Amino acid sequence: MKGIVFTEFLDLVEEKFGLEMVDKIIYQSELASEGIYTSVGTYSFSEMLQLVTNLSDNTGISTDDLLLVYAEHFFGMIEKSYPGLLATYKDPIEMLASIENHIHVEVQKIYPEAELPTFIVEEKTENSLTMVYKSSRAMHHFGLGLMNKTFEHFNTEASIVLEKIKEDGTEVRFIVNKK
Ligand code: HEM
Repeated sequence: MKGIVFTEFLDLVEEKFGLEMVDKIIYQSELASEGIYTSVGTYSFSEMLQLVTNLSDNTGISTDDLLLVYAEHFFGMIEKSYPGLLATYKDPIEMLASIENHIHVEVQKIYPEAELPTFIVEEKTENSLTMVYKSSRAMHHFGLGLMNKTFEHFNTEASIVLEKIKEDGTEVRFIVNKK
């Protein structure tokens, strides 16, 4: 995982819970990096998992809810860092349907070592989209947060329903309907 994913995460933890919480979850996790991240470095995904799990244990907030809030914060970084990529799209459904074949393809070119999920479009109309998310990282709520923000970005609203295909969350169907 890219360092920017970690630095953004720890910035958000500091903003919401204070610097002591940042120190605490780094201390509680067994990190090869020792919690020292640079935005351009690459770190193991298991480090993120440990940080999120320890934050969940300390706050009582579920890891899904933490990933959701974190993704909404992450979208702000995307808007700042990739305005050109977002400007390619005029419509949120078009944008979400293009993650697999365009957006993440560009991300992978910029960061060859990025670990990205797979999105398979099952059905798409002007106002609806059904997509299957697949990833060993089971970060579907990170995806949900990014989808929520995508609709906000285009000043539209949607209902987004998640259906777990696999109990462990490595395969999830997203059913999106524009309001
Ligand atoms: C992961 C970039 C849009 C879903 C990531 C990562 C980056 C990234 C850098 C981390 C990869 C790593 O560190 O190894 C972007 C950019 C976008 C974008 C620049 C828009 C311009 C979206 C959207 C979704 C999405 C709209 C909505 C579903 C995900 C998910 C992950 C991810 C779920 C976590 C990895 C996993 O589940 O395996 N993305 N992304 N992305 N992205 Fe995107």
